[in-house]
Amino acid sequence: MKNKQDNKMDKIVSLCKRRGFVFPGSEIYGGLANTYSYGPLGVELKNNIKKLWWKYFITDREDMVGLDGPILLNRKVWEASGHVDNFKDELVECKKCHHRFRPDKLKDANKCPDCGGQFTKAQKFSGMFKTIIGSVEEEGETVYLRPETAQAIFVDFKNVLNSTNKKIPFGIGQIGKAFRNEITTGNFIFRTFEFEQMEIEYFIAPDEDWNKVFEGWVSYMHKFMDIVGLDTKKMYNHEIEGEERAFYSKRTIDMEYDFPFGQDELWAIAYRTDYDLIRHQEKSNESMEYFDPSSDVRAKLSNQISGQAKKYIPHVIEPTFGVDRTLLAVLSEAFEEEVLDGGETRTVLHLNPSVAPYKVAVFPLLHNKEELVKKARNVYEDLKKYFPVYWDERGNIGKRYRAQDEIGTPYCVTVDFDSLEKDEVTIRNRDTMKQERVKVKELACFLMDKVC
Ligand code: GAP
Repeated sequence: MKNKQDNKMDKIVSLCKRRGFVFPGSEIYGGLANTYSYGPLGVELKNNIKKLWWKYFITDREDMVGLDGPILLNRKVWEASGHVDNFKDELVECKKCHHRFRPDKLKDANKCPDCGGQFTKAQKFSGMFKTIIGSVEEEGETVYLRPETAQAIFVDFKNVLNSTNKKIPFGIGQIGKAFRNEITTGNFIFRTFEFEQMEIEYFIAPDEDWNKVFEGWVSYMHKFMDIVGLDTKKMYNHEIEGEERAFYSKRTIDMEYDFPFGQDELWAIAYRTDYDLIRHQEKSNESMEYFDPSSDVRAKLSNQISGQAKKYIPHVIEPTFGVDRTLLAVLSEAFEEEVLDGGETRTVLHLNPSVAPYKVAVFPLLHNKEELVKKARNVYEDLKKYFPVYWDERGNIGKRYRAQDEIGTPYCVTVDFDSLEKDEVTIRNRDTMKQERVKVKELACFLMDKVC
């Protein structure tokens, strides 16, 4: 029997398909497991999350810059980073149906849960997808699709340094696709083969108090929850111990969120030390050293030779975020089935206006009254100069309100007969369902205050 929370997940998945947030991938061909399309509303929600992230983590901070590196990188990058040797899962394969499983996730380690068959001995399988560059497959070069965006940042560390005036401490942030041949999948868009990451590599001096910088980033990350409309009480810092940490990390915290299917990793932060830059320096023979200009000034001031100016390989703190998981958390938090006074249930997404795909919807009270439609069109044309606005004239007003509740539009504006005489409209609040009258000439300012 399904519990209430599973049921909530099913309802979110169904709403996502029905209203155009998320569709199953390649559906007309029977689908491709663990792949999804973001529909017209999903892509808006996703873009809003990414825009807010970019502003808060990159453009609002003087110590941050952005990058958009390639998905395909020279395979030596992944040899240097250790992914070729270490980004592997230990798996057992069923001798009968050939399905593969992680032994640590199996309830019964002796029998296949799909067909009851016997398992092979555990073997390591790479989590990286491969593809071939070149027109002839046999002669082409095999490259990996990146399993994390981070390495594109390390590879361009010197280019960023040489082309900007950034001094350590500073960070480079990136948003982009990553690919993993995941064995344990499921829970909708929570764990998929193809997903988007928003990552930061923050470079610090080796003698810097890294734990203090790490803790500073933990609280800065937590504040982002509020910006996208997540409840900080549903976030748990899970300190990852020794063996459980990724091979490059000296300290990791998984920030776990209370999803409808249980508590699991939403974002993470790791102290990657100087591991990656040292490995790239060794493998590429390019120096990854940073020359500290302030130490040169200090050396000259104290009459020392400039040769004593400090050079070092920076250490790295890495805050990392999944776009798709953030979107799932935002939807889970916003979703409500509210029982109204008359017993009717309304489905509503209480999305924070900052992430809502549409900020306002505009309707004429009746679609067959030309003067109402004309005035409502004018209101719509004016408002969409400032923010995304939805136009609807189908069905009755009650149905239009319900449709906007389901997609999380914070305000609905209705043009009625009074509007023609008094130049006023009715504004209805999604969460309280209360209505108020506002002058058309004050409408844009009134709404801007609430949704921007
Ligand atoms: N560069 C470090 C790194 O990649 P990670 O914890 O493996 O660290 C970072 O991944 C974030 O990417 C996770 O916190 C999660 O939000 C997201 N993520 C990882 N694997 C994912 C998958 N298969 N599907 C969706 N999101 C994923």
